[in-house]
Amino acid sequence: MGKDVIIACDFKDASHTFEFLDKFKDRKPFVKIGMELFYAEGPSIVREIKKRGHKIFLDLKLHDIPNTVKKAMSVLSRLDVDILNVHASGTVKMMEAALSGLTRPDGTRPLLVAVTQLTSTDEETMKSDLLINAPIDEVVMHYAKNAKCAGLDGIVCSPWETEKVHNLLGNDFLTITPGIRFADNQAGDQKRIMTPCEAKKAGSDYIVVGRPITEAENPVFAYNRCIEEFVN
Ligand code: C5P
Repeated sequence: MGKDVIIACDFKDASHTFEFLDKFKDRKPFVKIGMELFYAEGPSIVREIKKRGHKIFLDLKLHDIPNTVKKAMSVLSRLDVDILNVHASGTVKMMEAALSGLTRPDGTRPLLVAVTQLTSTDEETMKSDLLINAPIDEVVMHYAKNAKCAGLDGIVCSPWETEKVHNLLGNDFLTITPGIRFADNQAGDQKRIMTPCEAKKAGSDYIVVGRPITEAENPVFAYNRCIEEFVN
């Protein structure tokens, strides 16, 4: 798959989601469905969005014992989404199990990426709450390496980490990067941001963009601006 812009559809229910997606008449955007929408509407929301012709990143961040994750992934693989994810902290064994569960009988499977350390966890919290004493950059890179060892296709990371990840694990190892803002946007709660254009230069494979598109006065215009800056 080539470079693309993924819209984070962080809506509370199906009707808000469809009202938003109905605005896009030409190019059907790649969309990210997270826990809120999935838990509110169930698998039918995924089938419905897929039927409308969108590619889907199902962002459910699985983390459990390997056997449970394997079985859950095997159910999710039937939804025919394009990208799924797990927590790298679930261990290499759990990621291998996820990959195996995701692989369909005919050998095909969606892409599988790992979340390394959530951006809501800083180095201090890692030490105090998780008793992890290594520097956070080291932890992120170690988790990324584990994801690659387990056979995963890439990680979700800050665009500021893209270059380091590609240098360490190769350009084929996908980097999916949230934390994107236009140069004239407010950062909001995102700390380490880049513009779509900067993320392209940094080598991100996919950017995940939420509020700069969903809360824009003209979401189609904002999406096209992302495509223009990041893809074209
Ligand atoms: O609205 P905004 O562009 O900040 O949305 C970014 C999306 O990416 C949200 O769905 C958010 O949960 C997700 N995300 C993130 N940072 C991470 C992992 C996921 O912002 N480290």
